[in-house]
Amino acid sequence: METALANEYRRLCRDPATHQLAYLRLRRAIRNVVEHRDIEPGQALPSERDLAQALGLSRVTVRKAIAGLVEEGLLNQRHGAGTFVAERIIKPMSRLTSFTEDLRARGLNPRSEFFERSIGEVTPEEAMALNLSPGAPVVRLHRVRYAGDEPLAIERSVVPASALPDPGEVRDSLYEVLERYGNRPRRALQRLRAVLLGAQHARLLHVAVGSAGLSIERRSFLDDGRVVEFTSSWYRGDIYDFVAELHTD
Ligand code: GLP
Repeated sequence: METALANEYRRLCRDPATHQLAYLRLRRAIRNVVEHRDIEPGQALPSERDLAQALGLSRVTVRKAIAGLVEEGLLNQRHGAGTFVAERIIKPMSRLTSFTEDLRARGLNPRSEFFERSIGEVTPEEAMALNLSPGAPVVRLHRVRYAGDEPLAIERSVVPASALPDPGEVRDSLYEVLERYGNRPRRALQRLRAVLLGAQHARLLHVAVGSAGLSIERRSFLDDGRVVEFTSSWYRGDIYDFVAELHTD
């Protein structure tokens, strides 16, 4: 495992396209080995001292590389025990990322199983959420989101058909398809609520009825202020940690 990281770091050193600053290069190397599962969630990283020695870097550089990944939630540190690859999916709340990106960054394999992928006329509630006029066409996606075989969330998304003409194009990532049309969300409002999962949601998520869940609503916007998505999600409460950075001003 240590060798995988050292090899990856050395590979990046030889790659002219990679960032020249050592701590950023090391950060990328750690991200890559986690993504490729050379270091599994829950496993420890080599100690700062061992890493510094193996890579010919100063401990300050190693510490700086690790600190950034701790902040992102990819790694966590336990006092006296060392640095570990995070087991729960820790999601910084201030970054507008997709489910697919969050999972891939942790070396997991995101998948969707669809109940619905259709196009139809906007309902009054959807029109309010998306700022659309009555009669406008919308795309509806209803799916269970998996990491490999494990269900993590249920999502119901409504998107104006003007931003996504063909629902059939969405196989796994909605944001990837929106990006292709130049309609990737740039800003979003998100509301989180603790919920107890009812029978239907619990069954789909393979948890007991009444388990803790998180209900998340996201309304995302394009640069020009148009709403591009309204998604209601139910996440399993035992897998996700949402982390927010707070400022005094
Ligand atoms: C998260 C958000 C959803 C968003 C989705 C896009 O799950 N809660 O609001 O629609 O990401 O993810 P993807 O691009 O993987 O479909």
